[in-house]
This record gives sequence, structure tokens and C-alpha cells, in this order.
Amino acid sequence: MTVASSSAPHALAQYRAEFPIFDHRIYLNSCSLGALSRRSRVWVTRFLDEWERRGAAAWYDVWWERLDELRRGYAAVIGAGAHEIALHASVSTATGVLGSCIDYSRRPKVVTTELDFPTVAYQWLAKRPSGIELVVVESPDGVTVPPDLIRRAVDERTALVATSHVFFTTGAIQDIRAVAEAAHAVGAYCFIDAYQSVGQLPVDVRESGVDFLCAGGLKWLLGGPGITFLYVRDELIPSLRPQVTGWFANEGQFGFDIRDLRFHADARRFEQGTPSLAAVHAQLGGLELVAEIGIPRIRDVVSALTEDLVARAMEAGFRPRVAPTSQTRSAIVMLPDERPEAQVARLAERDIVADSRPGHVRLSPYFYNTVEDHAAALEILST
Ligand SMILES: Cc1ncc(COP(=O)(O)O)c(C=O)c1O
Repeated sequence: MTVASSSAPHALAQYRAEFPIFDHRIYLNSCSLGALSRRSRVWVTRFLDEWERRGAAAWYDVWWERLDELRRGYAAVIGAGAHEIALHASVSTATGVLGSCIDYSRRPKVVTTELDFPTVAYQWLAKRPSGIELVVVESPDGVTVPPDLIRRAVDERTALVATSHVFFTTGAIQDIRAVAEAAHAVGAYCFIDAYQSVGQLPVDVRESGVDFLCAGGLKWLLGGPGITFLYVRDELIPSLRPQVTGWFANEGQFGFDIRDLRFHADARRFEQGTPSLAAVHAQLGGLELVAEIGIPRIRDVVSALTEDLVARAMEAGFRPRVAPTSQTRSAIVMLPDERPEAQVARLAERDIVADSRPGHVRLSPYFYNTVEDHAAALEILST
């Protein structure tokens, strides 16, 4: 059933009131930055109050525990254990540390796809002077990458397949289990950039069998910028020793011994330095909401909203560049347009927040959106 088939509010419509931006605007850009919730504001205010009243004293009995709470919260949304989660400031820093753990001597090849977010590929492009080869698998239709093409690109010289769960370029959902199987069949690791999926889609690291996975607050987990995580499958943790690191990775962190670096036994060995506490708190608020609603319910509503948006866009004469089926689509809807920046500016004049990418207007609804938001945006875009 699509949302379009009913004018009744959807099952999560009451949560819109959690997001004050809708008092002033229609927000349709969650794949860039999730909207700020009242919940996150409460958490950040709590942190600011503690900082103001207690200063650094709050580290020991409050903030340290919140880092653990966040690791547990991230673990819960991907079916992992908290000991498999390392906190990071961005996907780039997390991937940088991960890339520094791998022995490329007999496996110099890393496989990625042309639809992935470039910061992941850059980690290995930057290692080209030391002999790393980055293989970029092309997408035949510009929307998806069939797992068979990944299977054909990997071999016994491949160290890692690094690709996305949801492509930021098209919203298409990749079969990450098939990707992991392709990597493992040749003895390579599988790293998934799930920044565009965790929150809007159920993700189960055990079921998918991936080795490493990254996601964070910016988009669908409603935590804002500055906080991400790296999942590392627990059997792999002891064998991986980062060469890009920091004092948070050291089990003897508070010994302050300059000659002593002993990595944590758990995934904290992949951390670096002091996390941004404001971001940590914003994320705790976002995770609280996501956990309260439940990701399967979010997926149901957001999938119906996506289908509604695609159907309305087609009705309005657009040919959305999206994956072929509702099961393989997510809430990133690309509308080909000759002047996307001008269209986004026209929407902004009417207090509708959208975005553009080369040749496309990009609309991305979340559970706080309604079909009326879609209608309002498309009315402007199609005139
Ligand atoms: C799939 C994906 N990966 C990574 C990033 C960003 O990486 P970083 O956290 O390093 O800025 C984005 C967008 O911001 C993204 O869409």
C-alpha cells in the first residue's frame, strides 16, 4: 500500500511535532542532514548545563558513561555487540583508521564502485604511492551495481571490497550480503559505508556477514554532524592493529606512558581522540527517538512515502532516477532536471528545503514528512 492511496495521516505522523523546523519550512533533505529533534536539543542542553556547572568533573561520573551508552545504542541498531563499536568524528576518520590496519603486501587491490561516496575511495587513492590499486566497478545503468560485477572484479589479490549499503547517488539499496559473500569467496574483507541506510533501513551485521560497517548521526540517525561509528566483527578485532591511532585506542590511556601503546581488546582500539561531546549528546537524543519508534516501523512508513513521491513525480512528468523496485529503493529520490540549482532556489523561496546534485533535484523524505509535503514540492517543480 502506498501513502498516496490514503489521505489519512501515516502511522508516524505524530512525530512531526518533535521537529520544530516544520513550524517554518517543509524539510525534504534528510539524506544530507536529518532534521533537529526536540529530543536532541534536550540532550545537548543537558550537556551544556553539565559543562557550565561542573566543568571537567562531569567527565568521570557522567560523560564517560555516555560514551558507553552511545556505543551500546549504535550496536543495538545494527545487531552488533557494544564491544564491536568504535566512535569516530566522521566516516573519513573511521575509514582512515580501518585502512591503516590492513596488510596489503600480498593483496594490494581494493574494490569499490562508481556510485559510492568518494571519501571512502580517497582513503585508498591516497595510498597509491605505496602500491595500492583502487578498482572502481562501473554501474551499467547509473543507478545500481549488480553483485555479479563485484564478483567479477575481486580476486586473490583483493584485500577489501569497500562499498555502500544505500548509494548516496541514487538511493538504491545494495545486497550487502551478496557483496560480503563475493569478498569472502576470494579471502577479502568487506567494508560497508552504511551512512545512508542505518536508521531508515533495518541493518543486521550478523545476518549480512559484513566485516566492517560505518554509519553515524548526520542523516537517518538524527544525531547531526560530528559523530559516527565503525563496527568491526569481533573475531577480527584482535588481529587488526591500527597504524593511524590516538590515546583513546590505548588500554593504558590514563597511564600517560609515552612508551606504552597497548591497544584495547575491543573495538575501542580503532578510536583516536576526544569525541565531540555536543555531538555525542545530540546523537543520544536522535537514537532515543529511533529506538522508541523502531527501525522496521520507520522503514514501512518511509518506503510508502518514497513510493508516493516517485508516483507523484511520474504523474507530474518527471522520470525519477531510482532503483527499479520498491524493495530496492530508499528515501533518496533523484529528479533529472536541466537547472537543478535554480529549482532548489525556487523551492527555498517557498520555504521548502531540498538539494541538488549534478543534473538532478534531490528530494529525501523521512518519517516526519507527509504526502502533502511531496505535493507542495512537486507543484513548484513542475511549473
Ligand atoms: C554515503 C556517505 N558516506 C560518507 C559521507 C560523509 O562522510 P564524512 O563523515 O567523512 O563527512 C556521506 C555524506 O555526507 C555519505 O552520504
